[in-house]
Amino acid sequence: MAKLSNFMKLFKPYLFEELYRKAAMCRKNGMNVINLAIGDPDIPTDRRIVDVAVAETKNPKNHRYPNTKGNEQLRKSISNWHKRRHGILLDYNDNISVLIGSKEGIAHLPLVLMNRGDYCLICDPTYPTYQTGVWMVGGRIYSVPLLEKNNFLPDLGRIPKKVLDKTKLFFLNYPNNPTGAVMDKSYMKELVKWAKKNDIFIALDSAYSEIYFDKPTHSIFEIPGAMDTAVEFYSVSKTYSMAGWRIGWICGNKDVVCGLNTVKENMDSGQFNAIQNACAFALDNHEDIVPEIRKKFNSRASKFSDVLEKSGWKFKRPSGSCFLWAKPPIKRESVEICDFILNETGVLLAPGDGFGKYGKGYVRISTTEDDDILDIAIKKIGSIDWRKI
Ligand SMILES: Cc1ncc(COP(=O)(O)O)c(C=O)c1O
Repeated sequence: MAKLSNFMKLFKPYLFEELYRKAAMCRKNGMNVINLAIGDPDIPTDRRIVDVAVAETKNPKNHRYPNTKGNEQLRKSISNWHKRRHGILLDYNDNISVLIGSKEGIAHLPLVLMNRGDYCLICDPTYPTYQTGVWMVGGRIYSVPLLEKNNFLPDLGRIPKKVLDKTKLFFLNYPNNPTGAVMDKSYMKELVKWAKKNDIFIALDSAYSEIYFDKPTHSIFEIPGAMDTAVEFYSVSKTYSMAGWRIGWICGNKDVVCGLNTVKENMDSGQFNAIQNACAFALDNHEDIVPEIRKKFNSRASKFSDVLEKSGWKFKRPSGSCFLWAKPPIKRESVEICDFILNETGVLLAPGDGFGKYGKGYVRISTTEDDDILDIAIKKIGSIDWRKI
């Protein structure tokens, strides 16, 4: 048997891969499983984007190596998008770099900012990939609880000074996976002030920035001075329902954006130019494509929330994202709850403690399935007899 490195000991099987495996095993055993454990958008990518990709694929110019940073057409479209959407100016050469999906950039960012022994602040519950790069550099993780009583926003005042003194990086994501909470502009202002005071770099993961339900979310670069202390990650996976296309971007502080690009130049050679150009088309036509997708996720979240409320679940209605984060009417361990729901209804949900210890007792429900299937799942979950657990 091959002797793997000590580094490999840090990795457990990736939560979502485990859930895929669980669904596949149940199906093999004859169960009709509805998988609401994973945030994998069901909505097909807009036909116009697909048509651009097909045409671009036929262009031999695109068959050569791309560059790591992303082509000029796409970086210009990204810059224009931020100008329209947030009223901010990002230089397409200095402040933007294209990624092979935002997950890839997120995993590599700590290599740019952290040294061995430095702390990274990561929220709990969390999207798991923030840990990966911290492990790669031999960094330390300090978990910052996201509590319902604080609207699932970090209580910055409770992070110990001795940790802050050794902290280089803070990952946050809003609209939040898994809680569905959003960060308003006044909190963002406080966060930037706090980050500057403590000399900590903010990485705001905006993968769900366009899946908001009440009012548009903000970019941290709307706050004066944020460019000195922050980067943001954007993803087209949920925004344009393009998860399989593997494209996203980092933007913000020039040194960090260029640093990440240098790391990547030594690892990858960028995304296929046909995909980059299709992504540019999506961004240029954002206003025609995205409202429909947002409306769909909003209506799914409302339908689910109505039924959960009626059947005694405890939760905050999500303000964005494609998730509900909820506690069932009966207090049990998350895994026990998910297993019970799976056996009773065939609906697979994600156990909250898979996202961190503060997820204990919660489950995450993803609304990334076809509406007819979701209606069946909602009905089944709404009629569970909890006395049977
Ligand atoms: C919070 C968060 N950030 C980043 C990602 C990664 O997205 P991408 O498809 O751009 O790699 C996800 C995917 O589920 C996510 O939930």
